[in-house]
Amino acid sequence: MVSTVDLSQTSRRYLPQSQEHALSPNQSLLPVTAQVSPADHLTIGGCDVPELVKQFGSPLYILDEATLRATCRQYREALRQHYPGPSLAIYASKAWSCLAVCAVVTQEKLGIDVVSAGELYTAIEAGATADHIYFHGNNKSLEELQYAVAVGCRIVVDNWHELRTLVTLLETAAAPVTILLRLTPGIECHTHEYIQTGHLDSKFGFDPDQLEAVFAYVSQQPGLHCIGLHAHIGSQIFETQPHADLGDVMVHWLQKAVQHGLPITELDVGGGLGIRYVESDDPPSIDTWVATVSQAIAQACEQRGVPLPRLICEPGRSLVGSACVTAYTVGSQKTVPDTRTYVAVDGGMSDNPRPITYQSVYRALVGNQMSTPLSETVTVAGKHCESGDVVVQAAALPPLQAGDILVIAATGAYNYSMASNYNRVPRPAAVIVGNGEACLIIRRETIQDLVRQDCLPAMLGNPTPSLE
Ligand SMILES: Cc1ncc(COP(=O)(O)O)c(C=O)c1O
Repeated sequence: MVSTVDLSQTSRRYLPQSQEHALSPNQSLLPVTAQVSPADHLTIGGCDVPELVKQFGSPLYILDEATLRATCRQYREALRQHYPGPSLAIYASKAWSCLAVCAVVTQEKLGIDVVSAGELYTAIEAGATADHIYFHGNNKSLEELQYAVAVGCRIVVDNWHELRTLVTLLETAAAPVTILLRLTPGIECHTHEYIQTGHLDSKFGFDPDQLEAVFAYVSQQPGLHCIGLHAHIGSQIFETQPHADLGDVMVHWLQKAVQHGLPITELDVGGGLGIRYVESDDPPSIDTWVATVSQAIAQACEQRGVPLPRLICEPGRSLVGSACVTAYTVGSQKTVPDTRTYVAVDGGMSDNPRPITYQSVYRALVGNQMSTPLSETVTVAGKHCESGDVVVQAAALPPLQAGDILVIAATGAYNYSMASNYNRVPRPAAVIVGNGEACLIIRRETIQDLVRQDCLPAMLGNPTPSLE
């Protein structure tokens, strides 16, 4: 079971500074500021990772401000360069919704995509303005729709039920409600089946055979200001062709909607660009992805004689995923003879449910010994009461001891946002790092926090357990 991986062969991949040509942040395993210190420690944003663990505890999400800002700027710059019309990148905050991340992307002049009242509230509290917030979701509640109408954000209408509910709210709405319509484009892409959303058997969006009836209905509603169409074909996609195909499908429907008299000026092509989780992943750059989408829309518009709409894209994973690592502390180990060694860390499926949910793969490093030869292959296990709670199935690592700092790369997307309190494990803290400074952006939950929402009703009797 023992294999040897020469760190020098792989360091070029995960240490962006050593690249001859700068990678797009989504192609780099580690944040753009990652370095190895003279003490052989991983540093991010000028902060020593083992020191951060001493200061803030573990598990710890470490978010690199420079990487997050760089991805925001790359999306904006690529749109400016490749799309001949107006454009807006909006952050799909389901990837990681918290005040600090939403504040940074808002400062970087991106909009925000939200899918619940909670994400909407977070975006507003972080400073996003209503006209830069797009509210998605296939089953928004009445209260969520009322909140969205009151706030005045854009509502991406997903289905007939929502459309009719929204119409009932128009009587009391202070102004026309601005909407987009989500369509199911019928495009399959090669990604994990749970996150395919653009194919026809999808819970999201209006099917193509309903769209003309939807356009006709909406055009009869003076209180609905329908400015755009939306589609999203999936996540962690490495191919560019599905997005090129999507551009053509969307312009086709834009033309139809305009024929129905809808004042459509926006096409929102969703997100989906993949990131590098392990060396063998090979996602296109942000620039390439944006160029593909831009050219597809621009070409389709030219062919159909349609004026260029405002192009909206909604990256989540590729915006925040590579900007963060999770640092754990190594604890127990167990060797099953002739089979494997388990190295356990102090977190797992509660702070990163992606491996157990999607069989996702991750790259592990040792934050306090970056250059030690990778002489062993071990299974990095979580601390939860599930055999499937494995962080990395086969990690090439140096020999480890309790107290070593194990770092998992590319944990910025769908980690904290999918975290749970399974086994009553408190959710970790998160810090943002930059210029050698680290600031808390999410406090670590305490065990007291875990019972804060619990109630012990009187009918259960005296809560004090009796030992007699
Ligand atoms: C509607 C919508 N937009 C954007 C995204 C973001 O996708 P990604 O994180 O792959 O960029 C998602 C994620 O599934 C989504 O459902």
